[in-house]
Amino acid sequence: PPKEPAEEEAAAEGQEGGPAEEAAEEPGSWEETFKTHTDSKPNGPTSVGLDFSLPGFEHVYGIPEHADNLRLRTTEGGDPYRLYNLDVFQYELYNPMALYGSVPLLLAHSARSTLGLFWLNAAETWVDISSNTAGKTLFGKLLDYMQGGGETPQTDVRWMSESGIIDVFLLLGPTPAAVAGQYAALTGTQALPPLFALGYHQSRWNYNNEEDVAAVERGFEEHALPCDVLWLDIEHADGKRYFTWDPSKFPQPRAMLERLAAKKRKMVSIVDPHIKVDSAYRVHSELRARGFYVKTKDGGDYEGWCWPGSAAYPDFTNPEMRAWWASMFAYDQYEGSTENLFTWNDMNEPSVFSGPEVTMHKDAVHHGGWEHRDLHNLYGFYVQMATAEGQIQRSGGRQRPFVLSRAFFAGSQRYGAVWTGDNAAEWEHLKISIPMCLSFGLAGLSFCGADVGGFFKNPEPELLVRWYQAGAFQPFFRAHAHLDTVRREPWLFGEENAALIRAALRQRYALLPFWYTAFYRCHRHGLPVMRPLWMEYPEDTTTFAMDDQYLIGEWRPP
Ligand code: GLC
Repeated sequence: PPKEPAEEEAAAEGQEGGPAEEAAEEPGSWEETFKTHTDSKPNGPTSVGLDFSLPGFEHVYGIPEHADNLRLRTTEGGDPYRLYNLDVFQYELYNPMALYGSVPLLLAHSARSTLGLFWLNAAETWVDISSNTAGKTLFGKLLDYMQGGGETPQTDVRWMSESGIIDVFLLLGPTPAAVAGQYAALTGTQALPPLFALGYHQSRWNYNNEEDVAAVERGFEEHALPCDVLWLDIEHADGKRYFTWDPSKFPQPRAMLERLAAKKRKMVSIVDPHIKVDSAYRVHSELRARGFYVKTKDGGDYEGWCWPGSAAYPDFTNPEMRAWWASMFAYDQYEGSTENLFTWNDMNEPSVFSGPEVTMHKDAVHHGGWEHRDLHNLYGFYVQMATAEGQIQRSGGRQRPFVLSRAFFAGSQRYGAVWTGDNAAEWEHLKISIPMCLSFGLAGLSFCGADVGGFFKNPEPELLVRWYQAGAFQPFFRAHAHLDTVRREPWLFGEENAALIRAALRQRYALLPFWYTAFYRCHRHGLPVMRPLWMEYPEDTTTFAMDDQYLIGEWRPP
């Protein structure tokens, strides 16, 4: 947790022994408590940081995930933007607080040039942004002089990470497209999605059983609404034991999947990375026997509380464990799975209901002796990587995978799609889905969407319709809703609203070839699919703060 300002000042005021020594003596330096949790800090107080001055720039973007405007605000006098993958309950808007994913890439843009700062560190990270037109560096003053004495702006950016080394890449642009290409050269481009994944996805927590799935599918047929994918949330599995099916609700999964396949439809089932501690559950007993779980500082298997009750966490940073996980997607391992079944990895921050800030203790230990502290923001990245690899292998390398992940890091674009987590059925949440997805795109994650209709609460019909109309023009197009919400399949709101939703879905499908081509180009060249206007009109200053309109793909051939 951030220090109180008074403590911070005391630590900064170099007294005897110098500030570093002073900080090491501070309470909390060698062991820290947060609520009922203790961080043993075996390596004592560590951190790395660096200041950057950006003369000539007053617009900065990036560092998702935050529920905020596209253009980053200055953080003077408040908390910095925080990057620490967390399962946040009912997140607040216009706020620098950490959310589910992190990409430590910041972009700066002016009418003259664009640049990127990529701070490659997966520990908890904070980014402070200040406008420093007055206290400019020498270079900034030189820039003023070169421009005929006028006041050029300057933005200062301070990066701070709790552990690790300073490994920073300066991407010199000078155009927005060049920065995107430079970043893609480092972290990879968006995986080309299978075509169906660009269609419409119908999800809810939960579709209750095989009859419910059949009825929903029939609803889409009868109301002439296109839909490619039906989703099953955690209740489909036997007691939240992923890779299994509830025997009374889903007794014949293969037959259900084959019925969908006959209509060329797909299904996605959820596979979360917390594994129920139950010796009769094969996935658990194998992980334990192979020593594949994350460990506590004392060497036992790390256990926490999550959906299934007591759960352990496979160590996705271990390549051998990832190979084992991938093998679990083989058709004979994941019983009842077929080639039209794809995967949703949720809760991979990782979410630990009983842990500090609902995540894993920082002194938990991973493969190679790394502390969780050092690599926290990478955990979800590796979950999605291993799952995508599993899907590739099960098809003998013939089919493109589809994996949706909630947590992410720089490079997650190579493994599939991401979404903005548990939003709410409110107009403000619909509005913020645009800057959030734009920000994801700038950080390489082009295959992004928000829960259409809002996850928590019940949308009024007009909000739902508007959300379909907006969602049809966002890259990942999935309706989803919380367990406690009222059913909201598109035909439940009267014929007039159903017709409006039908029109939105059909617009999406009419443009499907355009979307597919845009993704192909993104896959080849690294430019985002969903673009802020300033990317296409980099000299037009009136576009620099716009985030309520955007472009899909390019308006001119590349
Ligand atoms: C998390 C997910 C949500 C899902 C729920 C149950 O809250 O973000 O989408 O429905 O878990 O799995």
